Amino acid sequence: MSINKEQVKTALAHVMHPDEGADLVTLEMIQDIIVQDKYISFTLELPEKNDQLANRLKQDCEAAVKKFIDKDAVVDITVGINISRKRSNEADKQKQPPQHQPVLPGVKNIIAVASGKGGVGKSTVAANLAVALARSGARVGLLDTDIYGPSIPTMFAVKERPNITTDKKLVPIEKYGVHLVSMGFLVDTDQAMIWRGPMVTSAVKQFMQEVQWGELDYMVLDLPPGTGDIQLTIVQTVPLTGAVIVSTPQNVALDDVRKGVSMFNKVNVPVLGVIENMSYFVPDDMPEKKYYIFGKHGARNMASKLEVPFLGEIPLREPIMKSSDQGTPIVSSDPSSAAAESFIEISNRIEQALIVRNKEKDSTEKVEIKFRP
Ligand SMILES: Nc1ncnc2c1ncn2[C@@H]1O[C@H](COP(=O)(O)OP(=O)(O)OP(=O)(O)O)[C@@H](O)[C@H]1O
Ligand SMILES: [Mg+2]
Repeated sequence: MSINKEQVKTALAHVMHPDEGADLVTLEMIQDIIVQDKYISFTLELPEKNDQLANRLKQDCEAAVKKFIDKDAVVDITVGINISRKRSNEADKQKQPPQHQPVLPGVKNIIAVASGKGGVGKSTVAANLAVALARSGARVGLLDTDIYGPSIPTMFAVKERPNITTDKKLVPIEKYGVHLVSMGFLVDTDQAMIWRGPMVTSAVKQFMQEVQWGELDYMVLDLPPGTGDIQLTIVQTVPLTGAVIVSTPQNVALDDVRKGVSMFNKVNVPVLGVIENMSYFVPDDMPEKKYYIFGKHGARNMASKLEVPFLGEIPLREPIMKSSDQGTPIVSSDPSSAAAESFIEISNRIEQALIVRNKEKDSTEKVEIKFRP
């Protein structure tokens, strides 16, 4: 298969500028891409001469092309200086009103995992998605906002309490490459049952501001089930880049997909797509069989009706449940299994959807906070 320019752009969109908080494609620093078979050349445009930065970015670009396109690709990068770019970048920064100052300047993308109904596998998807993104080399955080029934501590077998820094920030716990924070680390789950809406919002705000998240490519948010007031408040509290909706295939669950899409439309958060969980049952002793016990393609059809992307199917399999219960999501415990592959494929699609979304929309939009009055 021959390489095309779009693939080169997509690969280079993984290379972050160390100081600007954005990737080189978004910053329009990649120009004049030429591809001939396995030879890829382009210009890396810098606003001023900076050999150290140029060398670092050249290395990162070459590594990204080899990782995401072809390990045998030959990459030829010319460094160009474009002084007008510096001026326009500075002018852009000055144009931003103060309320657009990012809350989490080091976090590139925040993705909410939502569902209309409880128990459809939202936390299972959030956990495996976070591990899959981390395995692809990204820096990933996972925030469990399900204050009523946090399941992330169990799914990652976290028994310890997180550390607190001298400036009183909570340090996420790292497991399988994912930086985790959950209310379940801090309080007794039974106590959380009496929490009211405003307390949930202030807890979520604290998770944004009083946690030492550092630099992250992705922060995955596991939302509580439903599309009621609590969920609406959370999605307005957090500067979301996009949302994914998890559903099972049966009709009763599908109506809730509609509610989920409508909730995110209301707050102007792009729906990156719908994930169908428990699409078909695969018995452990007959892995070649597929039983569509909840109906076939329900969520896929609903996604097309609502004109939102369909991100993929996840089978109903005992090892998915067991690995979560034992504290190692299947993408970590058995990454080459068919079940893990379905999560990995979906995470690749989400990465692609985010690249497209961030190109199409103003980058300040993803860090705009929409607090309720
Ligand atoms: N594809 C799957 N195959 C087998 N078991 C699954 C699958 N997806 C989820 N489960 C199991 O179903 C149960 C519910 O999943 P999970 O906790 O992820 O749902 P949820 O939507 O987060 O629930 P809640 O609404 O309570 O937050 C768990 O025991 C989980 O291990
Ligand atoms: Mg859950």
